[in-house]
Amino acid sequence: MHQNFKLKDKAVNANIFSPIEIAGLTVRHRIAMAPLTRSRAGQPGNVPTTMNVEYYRQRAGAGLIITEATQISQQAQGYAWTPGIYTPEQIAGWLEVSKAVHEEGGVIFQQLWHVGRVSHPSFQPNGGLPVAPTTMPVPGKTFIVDETGKGVWGEIPEPQELTTSGIKTIIADYVTASRNAIAAGMDGVEIHAGNGYLLDQFINSNSNHRMDEYGGSTENRARLLLEVTDAISKEIGASRVGVRLTPMGRFMGMGDDTPEETFGYIAEELSKRSLAYLHLVEPEIVGTVLDENYDPRWDSIMKLLRERFKGPLILAGGFTYEKAQAAIAEGRGDVIAFGRLFIANPDLPDRLRTRAPLNEPDSSTFFGGDSRGYVDYPALIHAAAETGAGNG
Ligand SMILES: Cc1cc2nc3c(=O)[nH]c(=O)nc-3n(C[C@H](O)[C@H](O)[C@H](O)COP(=O)(O)O)c2cc1C
Repeated sequence: MHQNFKLKDKAVNANIFSPIEIAGLTVRHRIAMAPLTRSRAGQPGNVPTTMNVEYYRQRAGAGLIITEATQISQQAQGYAWTPGIYTPEQIAGWLEVSKAVHEEGGVIFQQLWHVGRVSHPSFQPNGGLPVAPTTMPVPGKTFIVDETGKGVWGEIPEPQELTTSGIKTIIADYVTASRNAIAAGMDGVEIHAGNGYLLDQFINSNSNHRMDEYGGSTENRARLLLEVTDAISKEIGASRVGVRLTPMGRFMGMGDDTPEETFGYIAEELSKRSLAYLHLVEPEIVGTVLDENYDPRWDSIMKLLRERFKGPLILAGGFTYEKAQAAIAEGRGDVIAFGRLFIANPDLPDRLRTRAPLNEPDSSTFFGGDSRGYVDYPALIHAAAETGAGNG
């Protein structure tokens, strides 16, 4: 069953409140904030705003914050109002975010994003077609801006196939973005290689039908991720580089013929590189029920990846306090990232520590909009003051 395996040799005398070392830094506990796109960057220019700074400051009680996915170039953008890390204004905006988090004693990594085919000409340089490993229809929609300035879900056109020189440009863009992230005060970067975006499109056999050195065999499909990882590591140091994967994810048309082999190989290769961490997303859980994307091979793949990757492992996806404690105690992971619960509970670690009630996330305000559903979820101290609880 899901999350059921135990790894005795990895079991540690730790719980989610024990510190852990990542990237040479002491992370004060193992509750991380998962990367969460909120589509609220300042316009024009997709620049972090003072409201974005406030949002991250409120959540800086996390041991580790992984920022929302941040595009490495204009071509890398696929959704409305997502922030970038490729202009001086964006770097200056993110510097305020990292300062705020560091002032509260937190550690923050920037998630670096190239969406590949999950985009729209309205985001692309000169209104061109999005890029992909292979030209084919793309299932799913993306969040675009209509003529009235409103965010709407729009069709994704068939992308153009990347040339080898196009691939080299993207690797160079990742390197520049990682340098920019460090200039913006980030403690490290997380390479987003999941959720059906560019690097995942190369990894999965469904979306990569290339005949060159970037397609076909497992080694070839993993090549772009590993080249990006190596190029960034050379620029900022491997110990400041994390990688996020979503093995078996089917979002945006992903699917792989031999997931054990593909992801097992990737974990082994990443392990050789002494990275900050590997971050895995487990299948989405709706309530207590696994969604239809759940594949029973998941557990054995998780076990395999845990064994192959020797560094710190972050797990995300449907975690509660109990599941998180169990995963750490049984050695399945070292850090647990919370997504939706962190949206709704800026002080999530305090609430988990005191077993306080949790605010419910409102999915209607996840993407786009103003401060509502963004910086107005109450923290415990305010909640207590408003209800009169805890007085005297
Ligand atoms: C509003 C929203 C935005 C998300 N944005 C990102 C993102 O930018 N990058 C990413 O890797 N995952 C993203 N995810 C996935 C989350 O990081 C996380 O894996 C997922 O929500 C499952 O964890 P949870 O059950 O704790 O919410 C997003 C999820 C949500 C709900």
